[in-house]
Amino acid sequence: MSNDARLIAGNEEYTYPVVSGSVGPDVIDIRKLYAQTGMFTYDPGFTSTASCESALTYIDGDEGVLLHRGYPIGQLAEQSSFMEVSYLLLNGELPSPGQLKDFSHTISRHTMLHEQLMTFYRGFRRDAHPMAIMCGVVGALSAFYHDSTDIADPVHRKISSHRLVAKMPTIAAAAYKYSVGQPFVYPDNSLSYTGNFLRMTFGVPAEKYEVNPVVERALDRIFILHADHEQNASTSTVRLAGSSGANPFACIAAGIACLWGPAHGGANEAALNMLKEIGTPDRIPHYIERAKDKNDPFRLMGFGHRVYKNYDPRATVMQSTVREVFKSLNVTDPLFETALRLEELALNDPYFIEKKLFPNVDFYSGIILSAIGFPTTMFTVLFALARTVGWVAQWNEMISDPGQKIGRPRQLYTGPTSRDYVSLDKR
Ligand code: CMC
Repeated sequence: MSNDARLIAGNEEYTYPVVSGSVGPDVIDIRKLYAQTGMFTYDPGFTSTASCESALTYIDGDEGVLLHRGYPIGQLAEQSSFMEVSYLLLNGELPSPGQLKDFSHTISRHTMLHEQLMTFYRGFRRDAHPMAIMCGVVGALSAFYHDSTDIADPVHRKISSHRLVAKMPTIAAAAYKYSVGQPFVYPDNSLSYTGNFLRMTFGVPAEKYEVNPVVERALDRIFILHADHEQNASTSTVRLAGSSGANPFACIAAGIACLWGPAHGGANEAALNMLKEIGTPDRIPHYIERAKDKNDPFRLMGFGHRVYKNYDPRATVMQSTVREVFKSLNVTDPLFETALRLEELALNDPYFIEKKLFPNVDFYSGIILSAIGFPTTMFTVLFALARTVGWVAQWNEMISDPGQKIGRPRQLYTGPTSRDYVSLDKR
């Protein structure tokens, strides 16, 4: 039997090739559909559309599997480091010890920001949301690093990728420092990527800052869990922006803007705010009823996913990391008990069972981040910091593809058909 897909439209039959990837659903290559039939496909929200070919990240949403370059996220989170995963995403293979050392060294050499960029922060209100600052400052990088914006040059692409990964912690920590009115702390390249970020965020010039290794490890693991996630909304935004030839700093700023929304990266902030609003476990049933009520816009934040119809494997690691951090810092948070109980009740409720709604990565992350000392407004910033490597890896993959074209979807037009202009005095 032919491996083609057959489409009958009117009296005509058309065939389209079915293409197989290394794993996952086959795709129907419909690139000739419009030329042959004069019709478009209609798929708002891209629920059935593969927008590109990619060898980076694979998700099996039914089984709760997430692989980066073939490696399961659980193994990477337990055994690897964020720098190692960054190398893997950018280069396709795990690094040798020498390659990892060189890569970490290169990244550490790019951690500083142009001094004039630091003055940029002062133009923001003190109470600006740090994601607003992130959109602005990351976009502004294009004005400072012209020497790495020739996207046709692979060396430029590599330098800009390294710069973005390296500078993101400095930019994020400065956004935090500005909001609390403390001086910016310059990077210390003798520390790890994550240790350096912790110091720039929580250190002050007046005192020596000791990095807590358990917190450092936990945050590094959170960064690994957020490093990439296939063609999600912000990654698709980065690819679409990049498809026009825009420079990488502008593309990543576009990704940050998309990530900010509560249905995407903003869900970690929304999830913790929701847990605070629920407060004690006795109030959970009321909120579960609200989440099920079609006339109430309330949703359980940190629950449900477009792709996962099973437990998000990142949520599993996140839950165990909460316990580790609490133990190390010798703290507890009653909201963790509320979260555990909410999960238990929701997972036994027919509404959530039927719709296959499980906790996602954002359900527990806020509890850890808050225990470490981050305010809720910084949660999505941390997501953006970690996702930057995935965004630049995806952007590089797209630009390196010789068949790359500008992204240009079409539409189902439902507005008025052609009509004559009516002069103002006749309306
Ligand atoms: N609480 C209550 N009902 C829900 C929820 C929820 N969190 N999520 C989905 N549903 C219902 C929804 O009302 C719909 O019901 P019906 O079929 O009766 O209309 C059904 O489940 C399918 O939902 P959908 O909105 O059509 O599914 P989607 O794939 O478009 O949305 C989602 C996925 C993640 C936006 C959604 O589950 C959601 O809004 N969750 C809360 C926000 C959240 O936690 N986002 C973080 C996602 S993971 C991190 C990231 O990738 O950024």
